[in-house]
Amino acid sequence: MEVLSVASEAYPLIKTGGLADVVGALPAALAPHGVSMRVLMPGYPKVMEALAGGREVWYFSNFFGGEARLIAGRAGGLDVIAVDAPHLYNRPGNPYVNSAGVDWPDNAQRFAALSFAAYELARGTVEGYQPQILHCHDWQAALVPAYNIYNAPTPAKTVLTVHNIAFQGRFGWDVFNSLKLDYRSANEGAIEYFGGIGYLKAGLTCADAITTVSPTYANEIRTPAFGMGLEGLLQVRADKVHGILNGIDDLAWDPMKDAALPQTFGAASIPQRAVNKDALCGRFGIEPGSGPLFAVVSRLTWQKGLDMMVPLIDEMVARGATLLVLGSGDPEIENGFKAAASRHPGKVGVEIGYDEALSHLIQAGADVMVVPSRFEPCGLTQLYGLRYGCVPLVSRVGGLADTVIDANEAAVEAGVATGVVFAPATADAFAEGIRRTIALYERPKVWHKMQRRGMKSDVSWELSAKKYADLYADILGLERDADTDD
Ligand code: ADP
Ligand code: GLC
Repeated sequence: MEVLSVASEAYPLIKTGGLADVVGALPAALAPHGVSMRVLMPGYPKVMEALAGGREVWYFSNFFGGEARLIAGRAGGLDVIAVDAPHLYNRPGNPYVNSAGVDWPDNAQRFAALSFAAYELARGTVEGYQPQILHCHDWQAALVPAYNIYNAPTPAKTVLTVHNIAFQGRFGWDVFNSLKLDYRSANEGAIEYFGGIGYLKAGLTCADAITTVSPTYANEIRTPAFGMGLEGLLQVRADKVHGILNGIDDLAWDPMKDAALPQTFGAASIPQRAVNKDALCGRFGIEPGSGPLFAVVSRLTWQKGLDMMVPLIDEMVARGATLLVLGSGDPEIENGFKAAASRHPGKVGVEIGYDEALSHLIQAGADVMVVPSRFEPCGLTQLYGLRYGCVPLVSRVGGLADTVIDANEAAVEAGVATGVVFAPATADAFAEGIRRTIALYERPKVWHKMQRRGMKSDVSWELSAKKYADLYADILGLERDADTDD
């Protein structure tokens, strides 16, 4: 099956979060299931650099206000087609915002253009290339199904994956004429959303299948508490919604081979993590205490619940714990952590910023990976934590609920616990989760067993890749040959 994955970021070319990890990992995960997957993405400067030897496969003389080319080639281990439209994408910094953190004013056109390019490829524009499925990710690619239905038809089917329903791509009607979208789409049953245009809404209405990144989130987004206004539509389309759990790229995230670590290790050599912990403490200026070293690697936002952590730090330190934080986001949360670091020198270390290699060292050296999200479609940091023996402390929402087994006494007894799960996602329950984690750390045998169990739990793409392949086959009306999956 020939699938074109359409996304605004893909690791290792460009990454701001888990979306990139997933888009970057899917092609290799799906290859054993008879799926050939290319990635269509914007030609940001980093992408064009990596594609220096690429081939021009199409030219647009007037593409959303300027010239553009489709450039195909291998980059970062992926088969990439980049939309090389300098007037839209040749900008410094982040794919979505300028250096002041403000959305680029033409994001409506920038991501409509990405979607339109996918639609052009589905029409068979490039000789010898006919994608059968357009697999679109998040609002940035969510107009693809709308083009596919309302503009001239193509033979392709569409799958839309929701990685985060909080980001919906909402714009005013003033942008409509620039979108090259047939006027018949301009109604409530298609792209209209609360008086304007909703890209994610359009995709959810028009896609042949909808997926999201965990079974629990697939249920949650059909409720008002998590659906962010789209729950009604998702209820109507419930038979098209599938929850398929993310896996991790086990080549990029392998504690036995990770080049970012001073000391590699496996489930049979967990004590060797101590070398990484020393390196980590040195880097953050932390003197290890009697309690566990808690770690945060995250966007510092309301979604992630980290504002709830700031007032709990004094108690954590009083109980012998230490804490390090790597992340950036809301200034208030950043400042809260920074203030805690100055109150507790040697006990709390904070690095505001983004550092891929350091994130590996943290997973390999810290004791606890903290993910207290208010909502979490899947979450990858707890999966990396499991794989690296960094015990996850998580709230019971979305993919966190689906991937971590709480260390209640029954689970500890049965030897199946892999972390600490608290509910509801409130400061009080979180505080209790922290206390339980510290108490478990004081039982070294239980703790080590939990680490080992986590390291052995299946966080690979294997099962989920098959689910995607089966879904593609299903919407193409193909009989799946049992042999294909072997
Ligand atoms: P989300 O995509 O909602 O931010 P995920 O847990 O799915 O959350 O994915 C986050 C990804 O970004 C992970 O790969 C994580 O390691 C990485 N990450 C987040 N913040 C940082 C940071 N400050 N430095 C390095 N990597 C980070
Ligand atoms: C989003 C979600 C996160 C998920 C990631 C990859 O960024 O917030 O939970 O893991 O996408 O699917």
